[in-house]
Amino acid sequence: MYGVLLAGGTGSRLWPLTEHANKHSLPVYDRPMIFHPLGNLMHAGIRDVVVVTGGEHYEQIKKLLDTLDHAKDKNTRHFLKLAPHDHVNFRFRLQDKPAGIADALSLAQWLVRDQPIAVMLADNVFEDDHLLTDVAKNFKGGAHIFLKELPEDQLWETGKDGVVRAKYGMARVEGDKVVEIIEKPTQDRLPSRYAVTGAYIYDASVFSVVHTLKPSQRGELEITDVNNEYIRQGRMTFSVVKGWWGDAGESREGLFAAGELARRKCRQS
Ligand code: DAU
Repeated sequence: MYGVLLAGGTGSRLWPLTEHANKHSLPVYDRPMIFHPLGNLMHAGIRDVVVVTGGEHYEQIKKLLDTLDHAKDKNTRHFLKLAPHDHVNFRFRLQDKPAGIADALSLAQWLVRDQPIAVMLADNVFEDDHLLTDVAKNFKGGAHIFLKELPEDQLWETGKDGVVRAKYGMARVEGDKVVEIIEKPTQDRLPSRYAVTGAYIYDASVFSVVHTLKPSQRGELEITDVNNEYIRQGRMTFSVVKGWWGDAGESREGLFAAGELARRKCRQS
């Protein structure tokens, strides 16, 4: 299985922190944000990783990830469970403009070809290092998403248009099935308090799904549309995230909260 780390986008919600630094290089407690989701891939035994980022950020992200090589950064290697001679094969793809998560994902196609992929949004931080491990090991095809039930007070944000919307894609769950995902619904359309986190596993047919997508109202190719297509085909499974989850890129509050949670985890281990 390949890993795909999506680190494009503008980082506008964290401006001015992102004026000179790529959002995913900002610290979440003791390490750059991107090392947290990378940890989930490493713990699942994945060593081939495609990193998608904007052209202007390529050098910075590459430099950061290069620190993992040649045992330069022993602490991080230890945290990622990388043995001294364990090599991670990073390949980079550049996204011209932030045209959406599914657009970024499509850039990985010619590198991963017909392999299944574990996709991580590079701003997502999970308490459970082994979030992906069992699902990746037993994956037989289709798609798999990871849901987290959130308390009411963590769900909402007010947009620039003054409308209150959920901060995440939200799932409608019936029994053991996800039957629909609504991207950032308004309060009257909330299907449940299950948020769709930024970790996904797909078979290689994901690329043909992406090629059928049309841009959403915000002008992006949406990962939620990809997931709804797998749901429509009856090929979507899900699990519920153990422990906490943070979207460190969602706001300054989100960045701060993810740092605090990561600190607590580090002190407990
Ligand atoms: O964090 C989970 C949420 O992530 C999900 O619940 C939503 O369904 C999903 O749409 C996404 O929402 P966000 O609004 O948080 O996505 P954002 O635009 O912040 O992008 C998240 C990451 O995806 C970002 O850190 C880098 C990557 N990305 C994003 C865009 C728009 C790219 O690589 N390229 C892009 O063009």
